Amino acid sequence: MTKLAIIGGTGLTQLGDLKIIKREQLKTPYGSPSAEFITGELNQQEVIFLARHGNPHTIAPHKINYRANIWGLKQLGVEHIIAVAAVGGITAEMVPAHIAIPDQIIDYSYDRQHTFFEHEKDGLTHIDFTYPYNQKLRSRLITAAAQANIKISPLGTYGCTQGPRLETAAEIQRMERDGCDLVGMTGMPEAALAKELDMDYASISVIANWAAGKTEGEITMVEIEQHLHVGMANTAELLKAFIALS
Ligand code: HPA
Repeated sequence: MTKLAIIGGTGLTQLGDLKIIKREQLKTPYGSPSAEFITGELNQQEVIFLARHGNPHTIAPHKINYRANIWGLKQLGVEHIIAVAAVGGITAEMVPAHIAIPDQIIDYSYDRQHTFFEHEKDGLTHIDFTYPYNQKLRSRLITAAAQANIKISPLGTYGCTQGPRLETAAEIQRMERDGCDLVGMTGMPEAALAKELDMDYASISVIANWAAGKTEGEITMVEIEQHLHVGMANTAELLKAFIALS
């Protein structure tokens, strides 16, 4: 059976329904992953869970060792990755607590270790990244959402910013003009690294807040936590429905 991993983001440091079988602390040629890899059973299927920001949630988006995380999953034989991420909503459909399954990415992040192919000895490799998210995994998530009666947006462009600060209103206006529907801080280089290692990757993006300047006033952590609470409860149901389809 294909090995599935779930990477949890802000609001999903642990998978409540996972029956834990083992915990592994791995070393990789790129250093230490964010946390131990937890193998468990969700709906009778084996799943590996990794907390992207560590457990407890302490690692800032620009400090995450994305290469170690993805390399570690590959070492464990993972072929499919569902990456859960908290995001801000830019376009009208992307209301707080809602879920989107993005199909495109624009990368605004910088200064991150973003490739496994950096030395001459690795050879010069340009991976195709036309469709950054795996279409089959995306379709399965969309079907699972329909079966579980969870309303989602089946398309969206994810803009990845550097963080850890949130954006200015003008930055969000520019991102909207660029075509971004969602803004997050962890989608890249995670998606590209998975592709470099030939792993299928898709994202469940959970909208935590309206992006900067989309509402009156400032964005508060209280608001983010409240929306994530609802969005992550739906995400847990979506993951179970997704697993039942495999
Ligand atoms: N911007 C960037 N990342 C985020 C946001 C946001 O507004 N909300 C949650 N993650």
